[in-house]
Amino acid sequence: MPSANTGVTDRPRVLVTRRIPEAGLRLVLAQTEADLWQDELPPPREELLRRVAGVDGLLSLLTDRVDDELLDAAGPQLKVVSNFAVGFDNIDVPACTRRGIPVGNTPGVLTETTADLAFALLMAVARRLPEAYDYVRADRWQTWGPLLLLGRDINGATLGIVGFGRIGREMAKRARGFGMRVLYYDVHPATSEEEAALGAESVAMDELLAESDFVSLHTNLSPETHHLLDAAAFARMKPGAVVVNTSRGPVIDHDALHDALKSGHLFGAGLDVTDPEPLRADHPLVTLPNCLVVPHIASASEATRDRMAEMAAANLLAGLRGERLPTPVDPSVYERDTPS
Ligand code: DGY
Repeated sequence: MPSANTGVTDRPRVLVTRRIPEAGLRLVLAQTEADLWQDELPPPREELLRRVAGVDGLLSLLTDRVDDELLDAAGPQLKVVSNFAVGFDNIDVPACTRRGIPVGNTPGVLTETTADLAFALLMAVARRLPEAYDYVRADRWQTWGPLLLLGRDINGATLGIVGFGRIGREMAKRARGFGMRVLYYDVHPATSEEEAALGAESVAMDELLAESDFVSLHTNLSPETHHLLDAAAFARMKPGAVVVNTSRGPVIDHDALHDALKSGHLFGAGLDVTDPEPLRADHPLVTLPNCLVVPHIASASEATRDRMAEMAAANLLAGLRGERLPTPVDPSVYERDTPS
């Protein structure tokens, strides 16, 4: 695989594990000796471990596992890991912090774009757009039909938002515009002023599941949220409810989701993220007419990906200069005196 810069210089050495938008890439290429992985697919693990050896900085993607093995392979000179994503479940952050290596992510810049896609999935599933599209393309459209492709109303329905951080709150704003009642569950509830401004009510998880016509996931992936929606959770949901996931795939037990969709207990699901990724076309979920799966594109607008690239570059370059990252995942890394 060709590298972008090959001459020997005294600039810091970095590994960039995929081509990111020019808005950020050009900043990195201008100031570093960058090894840019050019392939469309992520570097295989062995290649990643080989290329990371001796670098001062790593610009990683959510498809790259950054753990002790990789940090050992990189070596003690590694100064910074900058993840091109707001999520960082691909990174063992405590392992980085133990070694005094700050990790950066890209919060804030993809909030609205991600909520837009979550709402688009909600609407598409509620109104059966994939089925309607297939119907026309299959030349099955004969006439206007009183019973043709009946969906669920969005207006007047109840939306349950799981995880009321930046993206969850943007989802609440969109829901209000559509005349929905908004419930949310978060271990750290919003203030009553924030709730009033967003028109959202904090409830227990069980109540959210029982009351919501639509459940949208906006939580981090952690041991606590792994399979948060499992068979028991689906059983507690209203018959005919819709699930939307733009967080991380493993937050849903996919076998249980398949059963709940297949039996008709759930009306449908819209998934931007899956477990594993990618899902192949013959995966049972992909073959269901009431399951809309898209390939992890929630932040995929041109402007947002540019901003993510700029932010990832800013974190990387700050770390290389020994400065505090603009958006460190774990600020406690700066409270340590020396790496152990
Ligand atoms: C993220 O940033 O974590 C998304 O999943 C991809 O934009």
